[in-house]
Amino acid sequence: MYPRDTDFVALAEIHAAALRALPQDVAGYLESGAGTEQTLRANREAFTRWVIKPRPLSGVTAPDMSTEVLGIPLAVPVLTAPFGGDGLFATDGHLAVARANAACGTASIVPEVGTFSYADVAAAAPAAARIGQLHPYESFDYVAKRIRAAGYSALCVTVDCALMGFRTKSRMARFRPDPAVWGGNVVHDGTPNITETYGNRIVQNWTWDRLAEAAARQDLPWIAKGILTRESAEAALDAGASAILVSNHGGRQVDPAPASLDALPEVAGAVAGRVPILLDSGVRTGADIFLALALGARAVVIGRLAAYGLAAAGEFGVRRTLELLTEELRTLMILAGTPDIPAITRSTLTPRPS
Ligand code: FNR
Repeated sequence: MYPRDTDFVALAEIHAAALRALPQDVAGYLESGAGTEQTLRANREAFTRWVIKPRPLSGVTAPDMSTEVLGIPLAVPVLTAPFGGDGLFATDGHLAVARANAACGTASIVPEVGTFSYADVAAAAPAAARIGQLHPYESFDYVAKRIRAAGYSALCVTVDCALMGFRTKSRMARFRPDPAVWGGNVVHDGTPNITETYGNRIVQNWTWDRLAEAAARQDLPWIAKGILTRESAEAALDAGASAILVSNHGGRQVDPAPASLDALPEVAGAVAGRVPILLDSGVRTGADIFLALALGARAVVIGRLAAYGLAAAGEFGVRRTLELLTEELRTLMILAGTPDIPAITRSTLTPRPS
């Protein structure tokens, strides 16, 4: 299906190949953000405001890049994001993403509105399909139980999506793919499902108290995805979250919103080491991972980068994406003299002089 010479040597080649492979409307759905895309741009700009301090002759030759999140071992500090509609990018969507994660020792956060069910993704790559994403809606209990039954070890609750952001470009493209691409977890047994809620534009804006009660009924740890302020970090911890994902949904919800990397120090200050922090939105390079870790994240989550790999060359493309990210980060860890992940602290960075 893909040319045999997909010998990608840099992430930029994978992005270019993805854009060549995708129909224009699908590429628009993937690349665009909400509103006038200020948040989308700010996510990238935030990574330019810090520099890594080179540390010559540090003696570091083979950095240990491994870490762990909620008991899930990671060979490198990267997980793939729950992006819905994955079948638009490659026919085997999150099955391929999970297989690539399994090959690289990383993990998938599997989406509720994906093309394949939680169970199908877990069957494709049980070692990688470890976290099931869901929404704080009326369907929560049913969906959480299905995630658990499929063998996942944690939930990821997307708290920033009471309704979809005002996605100007997608609206103007009149993008309406086959609904099956969102329907992997729809079961026709009369229980509520999120695609109906979204499809009928029903807004279910839960409160933290309601989420705390619903999450307490499950016996899985949960990540609060979509935290950008001290106040929401504290609310998530009070509600019982076991980890915080600093995220503005890749610039697809509030516009303008704080850039994810800009929000990280404030959230890290509020969390004060009580639970692990993850970061997504704008991560495109190994240097971005280094910066996020130095500013307080345990690991990063990649959305569009993983989708580019998928669109460029399926499972192989996602695997190459993870390998190249790993090589970039490893290179910087050697040049910055950081022998392992805990050594990537705030003291390895300095603000770029303006
Ligand atoms: C998403 N994202 C997302 N998040 C979520 O919680 N549930 C979902 O169904 C989706 N769907 C989705 C589709 C597509 C095409 C994209 C690009 C993103 C957001 C995603 O999980 C993550 O927060 C962002 O993608 C991170 O930003 P980057 O890495 O894309 O810059």
